[in-house]
Amino acid sequence: MLVVYFSSVTNNTHRFVSKLGLPSARIPIKASDEPLVVNEPYVLVCPTYGGGVSIRGGAPKPVPIQVIKFLNNPHNRSLIRCVIAGGNTNFGPDYATAGDLISAKCHVPFVYKFELMGTPEDVTKVRSGLAEYAADLGLEPAA
Ligand SMILES: Cc1cc2nc3c(=O)[nH]c(=O)nc-3n(C[C@H](O)[C@H](O)[C@H](O)COP(=O)(O)O)c2cc1C
Repeated sequence: MLVVYFSSVTNNTHRFVSKLGLPSARIPIKASDEPLVVNEPYVLVCPTYGGGVSIRGGAPKPVPIQVIKFLNNPHNRSLIRCVIAGGNTNFGPDYATAGDLISAKCHVPFVYKFELMGTPEDVTKVRSGLAEYAADLGLEPAA
């Protein structure tokens, strides 16, 4: 079971993923860093950075550029099995829309959304959900 995630310098998603206690790999923030290449099926955890576009107008771009670049690698994209999105409900209809977009583009289920660094309940639900549905999702069982 591998968790691949992106987190900006505010580290909310990093905190959430750390609490899951599963093997994880972080997509680098800086373009100058070595790109991440994965070699096993993974769940992608991605924060939303659209900036409330449905309210202020403009093209919806909720997925961070670093995540787009990671998924533009066909090998990486072939191994995604499901997506979990982070966000903030203050963004109303744009809450966690990175999950909708990644799900549609990569044809994988959008299995969970959470706010900021997640609550203890979020952590419990995601841990148990991934354990229960690992085989259905095509993920390796957690050790
Ligand atoms: C510039 C900016 C734009 C954001 N846009 C959205 C948004 O459109 N929808 C949403 O649900 N959350 C939005 N957020 C909230 C982030 O998804 C949230 O703070 C997340 O926990 C950040 O994760 P990170 O600290 O791991 O990068 C935005 C945050 C910032 C700073």
